[in-house]
Parts: sequence; structure tokens; C-alpha cells
Amino acid sequence: MERSLTIELVRVTEAAAIAAGRWMGLGKKNEADEAATSAMRRVFDTIPIQGTVVIGEGEMDEAPMLYIGEKLGQGCANPVDVAVDPLEGTNIVAKGLWNSLSVVAISDQGGLLHAPDMYMEKIAVGPNAVGKVDLDAPVADNLKAVAEANGKDVNDVVAIVLDRERHRQLIEEIRQAGARIKLISDGDVAAAINTCFPDTGVDILFGIGGAPEGVLAAVALKCLGGEIQGRLVPEDQEQYDRCIRMGLKDPRQVLRMEDLVKGEDAIFAATGVTDGELLKGVRYRGNVATTHSMVMRALTGTVRFIEGTHRLEKKPNLVLK
Ligand code: FBP
Repeated sequence: MERSLTIELVRVTEAAAIAAGRWMGLGKKNEADEAATSAMRRVFDTIPIQGTVVIGEGEMDEAPMLYIGEKLGQGCANPVDVAVDPLEGTNIVAKGLWNSLSVVAISDQGGLLHAPDMYMEKIAVGPNAVGKVDLDAPVADNLKAVAEANGKDVNDVVAIVLDRERHRQLIEEIRQAGARIKLISDGDVAAAINTCFPDTGVDILFGIGGAPEGVLAAVALKCLGGEIQGRLVPEDQEQYDRCIRMGLKDPRQVLRMEDLVKGEDAIFAATGVTDGELLKGVRYRGNVATTHSMVMRALTGTVRFIEGTHRLEKKPNLVLK
């Protein structure tokens, strides 16, 4: 993949974040999502890729744009798989809470798991603990392993978990093992990324979240040298059959990094919509919007944080036309 695509992808997430950020705290998650999606779509048209959406806003008949199978870009260069989440954390924006992002990832064609819109059980850790945790191991063992890897006691470890009823037992087990917990309302892509940055204070992500978000997090963690393991959680026969159609012999198999994102190269870009530990949310002042983004590439491991200042009067549609 062309290295210049890194900055092109930041343009995509910046535009989506600027559009979505306007809806912060207004209680309108669908409007925020639509704004992000259409801004992201417009910018994709200006990018020199030959992309196919493999993780998107839904199937063709349920999403007007950025649907699975949609072709993106100007049609040049090698074909790539594209995963998008124009607004990761729709409720977060609606309430003005922490860590909503606009997210895009690409890989060479065939690189990304075509994860259907279902749940995935996940465990994610930063670089020190790679190879030391196991989705199937007891929670206490994983906490001990990450504590050792990060040079701490278990009671200094922080596990991050989506605050959901389905995690009641998991939360109990973490508490019994003596670790601390950060319960979040939404946004497990940011949560997984945070395990790779000690300053965020997060050591390990546990729990069930969206499968598409699991693949996006896998691209980010591949770039950052961390690890995520996942297992799809089909809730009915239709979802189970869908996994089989995807080519999974056993839909309940543990999906490792290489299953989630194949090959050496992939690019991940995210822009903060609301404030988070790593990325500030969008700031507006008159005709100027300021964005904070991260972009990284698996092949080189380069991670860049980019502050963008956008003159909205010069590109009212978030692109020059
Ligand atoms: P949306 O942006 O689609 O609202 O997803 C936010 C999110 O919290 C994800 O980060 C997470 O993977 C998923 O929802 C969890 O799903 P659920 O809200 O059904 O528990």
C-alpha cells in the first residue's frame, strides 16, 4: 500500500469527526451518525484507492452509504479492504461523554475478517503482554499475566469493561482477583487502543462488544504491537449460518491477530469526536475546527498524532469541490 494513504485516511476521519462533533450532547445519536457517514463518504471520493467496504454501516439494503460491498475511492492503485466506523460511540456523542471516535482501517485485499454485525468476546492487551493472555484462560490468570508483564501487582492492574448486564459475572471475577476496573458506557475500540498506552492507566480489555469494532481494534493493535483475541458470539441460527458462510469452519473458534487482520501491512486512522485519554474531541470557533487524530501503519509501526486546523469557509462540505 502507498504510504501516502496514511494522511489521506486522516482526511477521511477528520471530516467525519467534524460533522459528528456538532451533535455533541444533543441526544440525537442517529443524526450524529448520519452526519459522520455522509462526510466520510464524500471525502472517500477524493482518495486514490480502489477500496471495497468489508466492514461498514450495514448491508446494501439497510445502509444508503458505506454499505458492505460498496466501492470507494478514485479507483486507482491496488485493491484494498476498507473497514469504517464513521462514528464509534453514537451514544457517547449524544450524551457528550468520553472517547467517541471516527475510525477507518485498510488492508490489502482479503486482509480483514469480514466480521458480521454480531457480538464478539474480546481480550486485548498492550505490547508487554503479547502472547501472555488467553481468551479461554480464567480471568484471574489473565490478570496475573498482565500484571507480571506490566511489572505491577494484580491490585494495581486496571481492566476496562463495557458496563453491561451481560458482564456481571466477569466484573465479579475481576473484583475477586483484586484488580481495579474502569467501566465504560460505550467505545471499546478506544478502550482496546488504550491498553497500548501506559499513560491511559489501562492494562487489559475484557468482555463482549461488537465484532466489527473487534476487527478495527485488531488493526490498531497490530500497528501498535499489542494483541486482541476474539470469539464471535452468534445469537441465533441465522447468525451462526452467517459465520459459516464467512468461511469459519467453527464459528466459536478463537480468532487471533492473524485471523482478524492478515498480512504485514494495514493502516488505521482515528479522529476524536469527543474528548478521550489519547485524542481530544473536535473544537469549533467560528469558521475554524480543530481536530486531533492518530494514524499508524502496521508495516512500519509508525504512529503519528496529528492536530488539524480546518478553515470551514474554504471547504463547506469538508472537501474542496
Ligand atoms: P455504536 O457506535 O454503534 O453505538 O457502538 C458503540 C459500542 O459501545 C461499541 O464500542 C461496542 O463494541 C458496542 O457498542 C457494544 O454493543 P452494545 O451497546 O450492544 O453492548
